[in-house]
Amino acid sequence: MSINYSEKIPNNVNLSEDRTLQRALEQWQPNYLNWWNDMGPDGSQNFDVYLRTAVSVDPQGWAQFGHVKMLDYRWGIFLNPAEQDRKIHFGDHLGDDAWQEVPGEYRANLRRIIVTQGDTEPASVEQQRHLGLTAPSQYDLRNLFQVNVEEGRHLWAMVYLLHKYFGRDGREEGEALLERRSGQTDNPRILQAFNEQTPDWLSFFMFTYFTDRDGKFQLCALAESAFDPLARTTKFMLTEEAHHMFVGESGVGRVISRTCQVMNELKTDDVAKIRAAGVIDLPTLQRYLNFHFSVTIDLFGADESSNAATFYSTGLKGRFEEGKRTDDHRLRSDSYKVLEVRNGQLVEKEVPMLNALNEVLRDDYIKDSIAGVGRWNKIIEKAGIPFQLKAPHKAFHRNIGALAGVKVSPDGKVISAAEWAAHADQWLPSASDRAFVASLMGRCIEPGKFANWIAPPVMGINRQPINFDYVRFN
Ligand SMILES: [Fe+2]
Ligand SMILES: [Fe+2]
Repeated sequence: MSINYSEKIPNNVNLSEDRTLQRALEQWQPNYLNWWNDMGPDGSQNFDVYLRTAVSVDPQGWAQFGHVKMLDYRWGIFLNPAEQDRKIHFGDHLGDDAWQEVPGEYRANLRRIIVTQGDTEPASVEQQRHLGLTAPSQYDLRNLFQVNVEEGRHLWAMVYLLHKYFGRDGREEGEALLERRSGQTDNPRILQAFNEQTPDWLSFFMFTYFTDRDGKFQLCALAESAFDPLARTTKFMLTEEAHHMFVGESGVGRVISRTCQVMNELKTDDVAKIRAAGVIDLPTLQRYLNFHFSVTIDLFGADESSNAATFYSTGLKGRFEEGKRTDDHRLRSDSYKVLEVRNGQLVEKEVPMLNALNEVLRDDYIKDSIAGVGRWNKIIEKAGIPFQLKAPHKAFHRNIGALAGVKVSPDGKVISAAEWAAHADQWLPSASDRAFVASLMGRCIEPGKFANWIAPPVMGINRQPINFDYVRFN
């Protein structure tokens, strides 16, 4: 389980025993570092950052903390230990041995799945690259950098699979992953949410809460894969992912805390007064939530999808917690309800479950993400403020599948284009909301100090004090 750090590329896959692969990855490594230099955190390459690095894949004590420069971070290849005699537990191959190599007939689909997942990892680093310049505290700056280096490592995880199992095509995909750019028109990232901007820290916290959680669900589905190396690598990625969602949930929670504190001090719910006091009003938080929730649930893909059926039946991608479900794990005679618009109304329609597996995963995701919204509401309730945040209806502001382009209000009513236009600024962040939030962003980096719009965390990282020097600026 331990990781070999004496090699150029830290790994627990006996890389040195496969010279060709080692050489290919060692050729990719400088290109990766160039990409990090160009597209990684802006103006921060010289900082010493209190980062955790994976030193083992043992869930007890897998990480080690210390100050390092991000360029010196030991990105490497870490797979969860192999499960002996692992069997495929869903789809047409149920009961067969898990695959240690890629079956020829599934090569193209598997490559596509790995590339799509891999592409999101560097994309989010690119989206977040300017945020360090406006960090609300050293603690937050460190968390941003931690998320960034681990997304970089997740790219390594996918590139390892491409190099090891997909030959020349895999190496070409590995290069292309370093060439696409978030938000660029001629060579954008594959999925739309990863081409959106993350222009301010409220967006960052919403992104890590909602969009990194999409990552969790995709990784959980891939951790079930019949292709064992993919299952093992995604399982370890999930270990790292938990912190990203923590950054999002606690970040939004701290913004809420601070806002509620100011509302109580001023005894007001007047947005203008709250904004004048330099904190983010709750209706603006709601609009950011609406945006990130809706953009993220699009990532699960079309509600009816024959690809989703193929990926499942062929054993490439399972459901969330496949092993805990008690059905037949083939789903050929099951059905599932998806939404469509009929006569100007949202109605449910029964479809074969195999074709609705994107929707199944989306619904699991929605359940999980709504739970955190409930925890945020507890903070507001405790402060005695009569306001509740709410996840919008899943048909709101959608761009993929049967609901794409249909105008639906956050509470799930189909409306006209004119009604939408009249209300859009109440439902989604307006240009002036974004400008207001941007106006609050300024660098606050003295140890233990926090920007006015966010409360300090309850605890520091790795039991360090809150005023610890998480980042040394040199
Ligand atoms: Fe990731
Ligand atoms: Fe993540």
